[in-house]
Amino acid sequence: MNLILGLETSCDETAAAVVRGGVECLGQRVASQVDLHARFGGVIPEIASRSHLEALFPAIEETLGEAGVTLAQLDGLAVTVTPGLVGCLLVGLSTAKGLAISTGLPLVPVNHVHGHIYGALMPWMAERRARGEPETPPWPLASLVVSGGHTSLFESRSPTEHRRIARTIDDAAGEAYDKVAALMGLGYPGGPAIDRLARDGDPRAYDFPRSRPGGLDFSFSGLKTAVLHAVRGPNAPRGAPLLPTVHKADVAASFQAAVVDILVERLMAAAERIGAGGLVVSGGVAANSALRARAAAEAGRRGLPLFLPTHALATDNAVMIAGLGHWLLAEGRTAGLELDVLARAD
Ligand code: KG4
Ligand code: ZN
Repeated sequence: MNLILGLETSCDETAAAVVRGGVECLGQRVASQVDLHARFGGVIPEIASRSHLEALFPAIEETLGEAGVTLAQLDGLAVTVTPGLVGCLLVGLSTAKGLAISTGLPLVPVNHVHGHIYGALMPWMAERRARGEPETPPWPLASLVVSGGHTSLFESRSPTEHRRIARTIDDAAGEAYDKVAALMGLGYPGGPAIDRLARDGDPRAYDFPRSRPGGLDFSFSGLKTAVLHAVRGPNAPRGAPLLPTVHKADVAASFQAAVVDILVERLMAAAERIGAGGLVVSGGVAANSALRARAAAEAGRRGLPLFLPTHALATDNAVMIAGLGHWLLAEGRTAGLELDVLARAD
């Protein structure tokens, strides 16, 4: 069975993984740069690419060591080439090219967002394979990818075929989490902090807007502005302190309720539109407890299976990249050394 080394450097996580047969992780590393970027309240591209450069080789060596395999035993090199920060993607791609030249292994370009979708399927597929049961999900799937950089819906027809049917017209959901957390002084990344705080708050304390742009698209900038006005007052100057009456847990819970409402409603509408046999929720925000619970409840009501990644597979990692690389390699979707990165993908 195919042994793939996956590399992921599209944003602020330096990751490597060895995956066998598309589902079985033999070893992996994720070196997070969160601490480096926290004091800026967001990812600084130049710092991120320099940090990838330092962290990637040690991550590869440790991953191979944990997996107990040498480069010579691998069947392919899967690397994220789109979408992401160009300088960051280039570190992963250049490293993969160097390894491809020195080993003769095929180079498999991977779309990071498709990787997130595949990451949601991996736990289920691994379980089925272990039991010797068929591991084909009920295609087509309606797939929601929600992270710091993306909020999109896809019609997924196989591990490698995903057609985008909606996207955000402004902020990504994770970005909205990070910005709302920043304006309440909760630190970076904001998603986990708001998720925790929301448990002690009343989701009905504030009636935040649920924007519904055309089609199945998303919009979060109006919600973010509404939260800003609620916590600092409507005409407060930049950097004004929080209003004394603000109860942060209530703001967090009400904001989260609005985000989850929008995401789940549109996912269900997408499922209906494409006649989906199942649902996927993936990306960093798929680690959110309220989103997981609501998606599971709505999926259950409709009798649709819901594919969710483990927490480790929800946020950026290379296991999903190596896993998807297996299927791409099987389809012969390899690339030559002219391969380049692309900041935005369709
Ligand atoms: O997928 P990811 O690791 O990186 C990107 O591709 O963007 O997603 C990171 C995003 C951040 O915005 C972070 O705040 C959000 O995922 N996030 C969460 C939670 N854990 C991470 N958002 C809400 N609730 C969480 N528990
Ligand atoms: Zn991601």
